[in-house]
Amino acid sequence: MSKQQDNLDLAELKGKIAIVTGAGNNGIGWGLCKHAAGHLGMHIVAMDLHENLVDSAQERLRSAYPDVKALGIACDVTKPEELATALSTIEAYFPDSEIGAVFANAGTLFHKTILKSSIEEWATTLNVNVIGVVNTIKAFLPKMQNSEASSIFCTTASVGGLVRGDGGTASYQASKHAVVSLTESLSFEIASRSPQIRVHVLCPCIVESALPKNSKTNAQEESGEFDANDIHPSSPPTNDFAMTTESHAQQVFDLIAENKFYLLTDNIRPYVNHDYPFEALNIVKERMENILDLTLDNAGAFPTESGDVKTSTLTGAMFREARKRKPQAPE
Ligand SMILES: NC(=O)c1ccc[n+]([C@@H]2O[C@H](COP(=O)([O-])OP(=O)(O)OC[C@H]3O[C@@H](n4cnc5c(N)ncnc54)[C@H](O)[C@@H]3O)[C@@H](O)[C@H]2O)c1
Repeated sequence: MSKQQDNLDLAELKGKIAIVTGAGNNGIGWGLCKHAAGHLGMHIVAMDLHENLVDSAQERLRSAYPDVKALGIACDVTKPEELATALSTIEAYFPDSEIGAVFANAGTLFHKTILKSSIEEWATTLNVNVIGVVNTIKAFLPKMQNSEASSIFCTTASVGGLVRGDGGTASYQASKHAVVSLTESLSFEIASRSPQIRVHVLCPCIVESALPKNSKTNAQEESGEFDANDIHPSSPPTNDFAMTTESHAQQVFDLIAENKFYLLTDNIRPYVNHDYPFEALNIVKERMENILDLTLDNAGAFPTESGDVKTSTLTGAMFREARKRKPQAPE
């Protein structure tokens, strides 16, 4: 037996507000803002850490989508008081509009092993990726529960939150497993009491973004090595395999319209122009089979004949092709 709420007609979102955290660096959140404004006619609140980022997002949204309202708000999702102020700002700016969607999308990533990550990096990762999502739920969900309007609450985890931890990004993967689990709990907590709110967890595969660089910049700003005034929206590097943020956002809303809970956005056609998917479901299945068998397949920890790959998850068609084409391999 399975039951989520009824399908949502995306046309119901027109004229409602989409709130997107982590939207200021031209990554996944920015793609969601553009799609929600341009395709769904939603008003947009683009949130991120620094004034320069959200001012730029606000300006670009206002000029590209004059039919909807757009607001940029600088807000640190690890600080509940900043989210409370953000909600008051949104209520004052949009007195007559309902919240139609919240994307708790802000995130951070340090590419390091457990032993090489500092405790500060662990704390930042768990604070932003997990507590930041919890803070965002606590800030906005009660208002959505008080309204009968249909709405979406979507957290951003990662495909890394569904597959086995395989070293290298241990803190990130641990945080993303937590996001998947807490979002499942959220669905259970509110499904019967607030059926007007659809809960989803976004688990992207590979999307164009500058996440590692932005995470480093934000850490340097936090430690005083970098001035926030010198931080400007990133230009994500392109690679042959990644989804653009626009086609990724299309896939997100397609899966929401299909009433999927796990928005596992693989690099598949028509969202990419190639036939080298991440093959996420195969890797999810492998983990589930390991669990049923009470084993951990860590064969990927041992050098292959070419001696290069220490992973058991980056094994799909995309990575096999990327290795052939080196040095263009995705991160
Ligand atoms: N790009 C991918 O391939 C991919 C894959 C899986 C999951 N994700 C997840 O998608 C989300 C968006 O990442 P992205 O890849 O678009 O990179 P991104 O760097 O464009 O987005 C992350 C944003 O979060 C912001 N942020 C960090 N700490 C914050 C804080 N305390 N308060 C508010 N904002 C904060 C950053 O400034 C940044 O703009 C993240 O949660 C990431 O883990 C990305």
